Amino acid sequence: MRIKLETRGLTKRYGDSLALAPTDLQVCDGEFLTLLGPSGSGKTTLLQMVSGLIEPSGGQLFIDGRDATHLLAGQRGIGLVFQSYALFPHLTVAENVAYPLRMRRTSSSETTKRVREALSMVKMDTFADRHPRELSGGQQQRVALARCFVYKPSVILLDEPLGALDKNLREHMQLEIRSLHRGLGATFIYVTHDQEEALAMSDRICLMNQARVEQIGAPNELYDKPVSRFAAAFLGHSNILDGHVHGKYMQWRNLQLPLPAMSEAASGSASLLVRPESAALAPVDTSFLQGQVVETVFTGADLRVIVQIEPNVRFTVRTPRIGKPDLGAMVGITWNPADTILLHQ
Ligand SMILES: Nc1ncnc2c1ncn2[C@@H]1O[C@H](COP(=O)(O)OP(=O)(O)OP(=O)(O)O)[C@@H](O)[C@H]1O
Ligand SMILES: [Mg+2]
Repeated sequence: MRIKLETRGLTKRYGDSLALAPTDLQVCDGEFLTLLGPSGSGKTTLLQMVSGLIEPSGGQLFIDGRDATHLLAGQRGIGLVFQSYALFPHLTVAENVAYPLRMRRTSSSETTKRVREALSMVKMDTFADRHPRELSGGQQQRVALARCFVYKPSVILLDEPLGALDKNLREHMQLEIRSLHRGLGATFIYVTHDQEEALAMSDRICLMNQARVEQIGAPNELYDKPVSRFAAAFLGHSNILDGHVHGKYMQWRNLQLPLPAMSEAASGSASLLVRPESAALAPVDTSFLQGQVVETVFTGADLRVIVQIEPNVRFTVRTPRIGKPDLGAMVGITWNPADTILLHQ
């Protein structure tokens, strides 16, 4: 795949504080890359340096193989969509979408045609004459997307564009943005701190933590092979048992838990990660862990059973809906060691 965009050591400092540590990142042409991470991890900072809205403290940015580090924002061929839709309140929907074309002095016949196309892509063609205040939040966000797509930028940056929407509308718009991405063939860089959104939407996820990149990979790679405790805890639900590796076992409290095969048993501190869906309830006498059921959560598709293993340790097991255990029941928990992940510290 051709590389559309690349950062080499791109860095941002504000005084003594580091907003983005030197970052090397390559984004392929047409890729959907998500920057995922907790608040303050540097996602917006990275995005805004790519857009040209903030000046890097160091490093370089390449677009189509050319050094774009010092190009003005308007010269980079990049479109931006933010969480706040920032539509012009006094302009109609069609006028809002036409605005970037006006700025580029596109002819009026071409403008009319492109505005119609862009509004139809986001299914807002019948709202062309309304004003933003006459639209719902989701409709306003669609207009903001159309206003970005209308001038056909080859890179589109989206900073938490669905942050203000309710859950149903969010999930609906996630699918729409995915299908717009396929239709446009542009490179998308999408910022979110919602891990489910990142898993659902991305070709690759760039997981960020404390101003640096923690891990980059396809959603299943990050989920199945997290490189760190942080990555394991941030993506999906995890049970993490912190202990010490001795030979073929991990010592956790007074228990010896089997390690996943292949894990070269370097002795020392380690964490064993067991996803809730990899664990199962079992008879107490044939299980690795035992405890008391303190909560059962119905999630629609299945049940989440929360078991108190020790005064401060709870373990979550995802089970089928049938055979719901009683609150307070003593249960055992088992798993296939091959489905667990050992993280050395
Ligand atoms: N103009 C600024 N001056 C000083 N510090 C800043 C400035 N902008 C951002 N920072 C700091 O840089 C760090 C990264 O901020 P950034 O906005 O990139 O985080 P983020 O990952 O986008 O978080 P969020 O999910 O909350 O939007 C934060 O610690 C923030 O306080
Ligand atoms: Mg941000």
